[in-house]
Amino acid sequence: MNRSPKRNHVPRETIDEIRSRSDIVEVISECGIVLRPAGRDYKALCPFHNEKTPSFTVSTEKQIFYCFGCQTGGNVISFVLKHEGKSFIETIEWLAERQNIILPTQDGRESAARKRFTTLEELNRFAVEHYHRQLLTERASAPAMQYLKRRGVQPKTLRSFQLGYATSGRRELVKIATERGFTIQQLVDVGLIKDEDKGPQDRFWNRILFPIQNERGVPVGFGGRALSEDHQPKYLNSPATVLYDKSNILYNLDKARQSVYKQQRVLLVEGYMDVLMLYQSGIENVVASSGTSLSENHARLLKRFVPEVVIVYDGDTSGFRAAQRGLHQLLSEDLRVRVALLPSGEDPDSFTRQHGVDAFTELTDKAINLIEFQIQTAIQNQDIHKVDVKTQIVKEVTETLLNLKNRVECSEYIKYAAKELHVDETVLWDQLKDAGFRETSVPRQTGRGKVAPQKLSVRAQIEHQLIEALIQDPTLLSYVKPQFDYQHFTEPRFAKISKLLWEADMDDERMDIQALINDYGDEELNALVSNVLLRDASPPNLQARVNGCLKKLRNFHLQDLEQRVRSHALAEGADEREILEQLVKLSNERRALRSREIAGTHDENLNEEGVDNGF
Ligand code: UTP
Ligand code: MN
Repeated sequence: MNRSPKRNHVPRETIDEIRSRSDIVEVISECGIVLRPAGRDYKALCPFHNEKTPSFTVSTEKQIFYCFGCQTGGNVISFVLKHEGKSFIETIEWLAERQNIILPTQDGRESAARKRFTTLEELNRFAVEHYHRQLLTERASAPAMQYLKRRGVQPKTLRSFQLGYATSGRRELVKIATERGFTIQQLVDVGLIKDEDKGPQDRFWNRILFPIQNERGVPVGFGGRALSEDHQPKYLNSPATVLYDKSNILYNLDKARQSVYKQQRVLLVEGYMDVLMLYQSGIENVVASSGTSLSENHARLLKRFVPEVVIVYDGDTSGFRAAQRGLHQLLSEDLRVRVALLPSGEDPDSFTRQHGVDAFTELTDKAINLIEFQIQTAIQNQDIHKVDVKTQIVKEVTETLLNLKNRVECSEYIKYAAKELHVDETVLWDQLKDAGFRETSVPRQTGRGKVAPQKLSVRAQIEHQLIEALIQDPTLLSYVKPQFDYQHFTEPRFAKISKLLWEADMDDERMDIQALINDYGDEELNALVSNVLLRDASPPNLQARVNGCLKKLRNFHLQDLEQRVRSHALAEGADEREILEQLVKLSNERRALRSREIAGTHDENLNEEGVDNGF
């Protein structure tokens, strides 16, 4: 993917600085990947495809990553780009922020917005700490502490979730934050106070506060729980702000990430307390869409981290409806979805406390697939032998299936539904087609499956070797370039990469291959470069190898030319003598090439070398 238009915003030197100051091992770990030392490198289960044994390798020394399983690789920037699903500019901003590097911006307006952004983040951080300190130290927080204790929240949970308490005062935060130098406007902007006729008032008072963080751990808002029934609403949440877009935030995703990766599954629950209590019992891969229904953005966010979502909604009608709605969003992002049904009147928190964490795990392990869920609940609630009821269920099932991206999965569900509903499979297929299901849709390549290595032709293998040699020693480029035209590469990906190499800015004595990765953000180039760099020391005699490649490729190219002259002659009935002359010239060139080869220094036998075509 070429991201060049956006790249222009940040100067090359800044990008280089950001890259060289960001440690790839630290960044990858921060993104939730568990790296284990392996010799001089680190290894992990690859986040880009499914695997059981780690083939994802990170090198501290070379500052690159490469997966020997799915051939994805690159430097710290390419990792964040791909893993976090960020744009190039967002990636640069994120890494810069981590390193406290100020990005030069093109106009003052942009940097003012940026400034405001960080101070609002600072304000939120300040508020989190303030409220947390109040809960732990203020005498007035005693009832809140008792309440939490009664509900079984342990001190360590209280700290790791940075729970807070807003006292009954109506202008506490206003006072403290303005004393700290924040403005009323900032407090309003971040949703912590309301500016009313009677003056600015704290939004939260006499509530237990659950700080809400984005997936990177930046606090963006709060959920506030009342302590008693007569204080309404039960939960008061921060309004939407520049930092807090509810459709984009899942409560606890920052802490859940690591576990979510390990389990390859995330549990989606309804409430803050559900998250807290499950997390405390050791079930860490849990998130909640606090107070809003699951949006398309939520689904997309989850898709970045996991292939499977288990919805664990409360065992009541509204929980059931919420689960139904969430389903469609998740499905259309091509996530596998299962639903765990709780007994009526229970939520994950109450269920775990009553029946224990093992019972809860069993429940989620036994979670049923979505069509089962839909059909089972319909069967429970209504008499499916009635024709109109059955028609209705078929319609609902069809609507769900329409969201499916994977045809194989779809066909499995249809088999199941047909059996349960006692209808013919073809009836369901017909319904689906009527509703707009595309017959031609094929299972989408999700990038998680292992990519089968392609067998390369001998010529392509040589092209591959030449490019690898150039990456191993970029100074050879100035030697190769005048001798060989990149347009003579035949394998498309090598043609593309060679073009990048040939056209790269070669002022420097030694080209910075890492910079090349940044400049082009080309996935195939990244993979190839990382693969080469992660292999052990460069093979000896690179120059001889390059010479060998060049001869062979030139020979192939001459054959091409001969072929072209011949077919041209056939097609055009061109002047025979001229053609003949050209052919003689070409075959002389080839002969010369071959005799040089025999007489000259021995070059490596490329065809028998067991070329590692690492694609
Ligand atoms: P619930 O009513 O199921 O509450 O709301 P809960 O999470 O079980 O909380 P406890 O156990 O009674 O303390 C589920 C979620 O819906 C949102 C909150 O995010 C809550 O966690 N909600 C609920 C609100 O935003 N406002 C409300 O008034 C109620
Ligand atoms: Mn509850």
